[in-house]
Amino acid sequence: MEKELHKDKRWVWRGLVLVIVALVLAAVMFSFRKYFHRSNSSEAKPHQVVEKYANALSIAMQFFDVQKSGKLVNNKIAWRGDSAMEDGSEVNLDLSKGMYDAGDHVKFGFPMAFTATVLSWAILEYGDHMNMVNELDNAHESLKWITDFLINAHPSEDVLYIQVGDPKLDHTCWERPEAMTGKRPVTQINASYPGTEVAAESAAAMAAASLVFKSIDSAYSGTLLTHAKQLFKFADTYRRSYSISIPEVQNFYNSTGFGDELLWAAAWLYHASGDKSYLRYVSTNGNTFANWGYPSWFSWENKLAGVQVLVSRVNFFGSKDISTEESLSLQSYRQTAETFLCGLLPESPVATSQRTADGLVWVNQWNPLQYSVASSFLAVVYSDYMLSSQTSNLYCSGKLYEPIELRNFAVSQLDYILGNNKMEMSYLVGYGSRYPQQVHHRGASIPVDADSNCTDGFKWLHTRHPNPNVAVGALVGGPSFNDTYTESRNNTSESEPTTYNSALVVGLISGLVTSSSQVESFVKN
Ligand SMILES: *[C@@H]1O[C@H](CO)[C@@H](O)[C@H](O)[C@H]1NC(C)=O
Ligand SMILES: *[C@@H]1O[C@H](CO)[C@@H](O)[C@H](O)[C@H]1NC(C)=O
Ligand SMILES: *[C@@H]1O[C@H](CO)[C@@H](O)[C@H](O)[C@H]1NC(C)=O
Ligand SMILES: *[C@@H]1O[C@H](CO)[C@@H](O)[C@H](O)[C@H]1NC(C)=O
Ligand SMILES: *[C@@H]1O[C@H](CO)[C@@H](O)[C@H](O)[C@H]1NC(C)=O
Ligand SMILES: *[C@@H]1O[C@H](CO)[C@@H](O)[C@H](O)[C@H]1NC(C)=O
Repeated sequence: MEKELHKDKRWVWRGLVLVIVALVLAAVMFSFRKYFHRSNSSEAKPHQVVEKYANALSIAMQFFDVQKSGKLVNNKIAWRGDSAMEDGSEVNLDLSKGMYDAGDHVKFGFPMAFTATVLSWAILEYGDHMNMVNELDNAHESLKWITDFLINAHPSEDVLYIQVGDPKLDHTCWERPEAMTGKRPVTQINASYPGTEVAAESAAAMAAASLVFKSIDSAYSGTLLTHAKQLFKFADTYRRSYSISIPEVQNFYNSTGFGDELLWAAAWLYHASGDKSYLRYVSTNGNTFANWGYPSWFSWENKLAGVQVLVSRVNFFGSKDISTEESLSLQSYRQTAETFLCGLLPESPVATSQRTADGLVWVNQWNPLQYSVASSFLAVVYSDYMLSSQTSNLYCSGKLYEPIELRNFAVSQLDYILGNNKMEMSYLVGYGSRYPQQVHHRGASIPVDADSNCTDGFKWLHTRHPNPNVAVGALVGGPSFNDTYTESRNNTSESEPTTYNSALVVGLISGLVTSSSQVESFVKN
């Protein structure tokens, strides 16, 4: 064989030249790939998976497993086990499921419900993408872990358990969830001590999840929808902030208003039920709650930007048989959504200045990455609505932008988060070769075989050693405004992950893991 190859050196030469030409061509095409994509983005290779995002998605999805409370099923995290099995028993309820909020072990209903709403939304928009990379079943399973909890937490129409564990008590301990022995009191809202935002967020979560499970388990989906309708009525009938009814919550997940959650819940109920009365609620209460023209950051405490994009969906795809007055209101939602999105585009005349020198959207030092991932998720979703409806441009103060530019913004944020930053640090734990080693997370920071107790466990918080267990998939708070990150386990604003960060980043990565989906109406006319 070897001899024969040597026999004709000219062919070897020609082969070499051809290879070089091919390489040069490939390099040229690679550097222009953006333009190739742009010119035929809808027809070309609709199902090409971006491998690094597929990898990131499978990692991000695992943080839900890290956070699960109760009796674990098919546990995939070697250092996790059953915990909090008695939660709810003092009121004869099984509140053992659900997820720990962050690095501690309180189950806070308000952000947990938001996690479920966002995860549902991600599945509804991008379930096909998740399925292509074998993550859809994991997403369903994690969502159900929360909705099972929410169903049990809502034992009668006007009672909802909104918290398990006392944060003050919980924070006097540093221990593994499996080792908890302290009391875990439950907190409820009811007709005398209502909590509109938490009831409405739980309604939104259950309505959105009912849509997710509709074709998988129609009985379960129906149960969720019934709870969602009751909770919305409870929220709307007894309008008072849970921060007023139960002032202790102000120190953790304080609410700054409930109008956004009412609109958000009604919008999800419309999508889930097709019942026009919910759409009417959204349009008639817009003037009161929607703050037209003034965009705000999408987060666990403010859902307005999310509502605006979600209601734009109706404007884009499902506005048959609705009155002119309603159409006008829906148009106002869409306009405010667009004002928000224009602010994200770095070149736009109305670009927000709330970003770091290296381009990361950065609003404040408390869990900064939540704003970047939440905005980017909305940008991808909206860009796909534009593509599907053949809306070619977004108008930003006289300048025109194409859907790809919203998508490029989202890509820039995700790539920064995955390591394209001056620290060369991935803020998604477990992804890449360099990621935070001192994540503020009790379970991850304590060796499985440690026999420390509630109080002397704090030595694991204060050690400068890397965590013995990887909190795989955790999206930590993130860098400071100057794009730097300091390893410090007790700096909660930088090194603590949250479950809602995970829902948001899972949504974002799912949107980007392959080219755009064709969007259809959730409501079948
Ligand atoms: C209603 O909720 C408040 C606040 O959590 C609680 O103090 C009160 O006991 C509850 N009412 C009943 C009847 O359980
Ligand atoms: C909670 O939010 C309310 C409304 O914005 C505010 O008045 C209150 O001071 C906040 N509480 C804390 C502890 O920050
Ligand atoms: C925890 O362990 C420390 C050190 O071993 C011990 O001094 C302390 O009494 C223990 N605390 C409890 C509540 O058992
Ligand atoms: C945590 O880190 C941020 C950013 O580096 C810094 O601004 C803040 O002061 C730190 N907080 C504490 C309590 O050390
Ligand atoms: C960036 O911010 C951190 C925390 O606020 C600070 O410790 C560090 O010195 C700053 N670095 C630069 C280059 O300004
Ligand atoms: C973190 O711990 C170090 C040393 O234990 C301490 O100096 C620092 O003040 C702590 N920071 C916070 C935010 O607790």
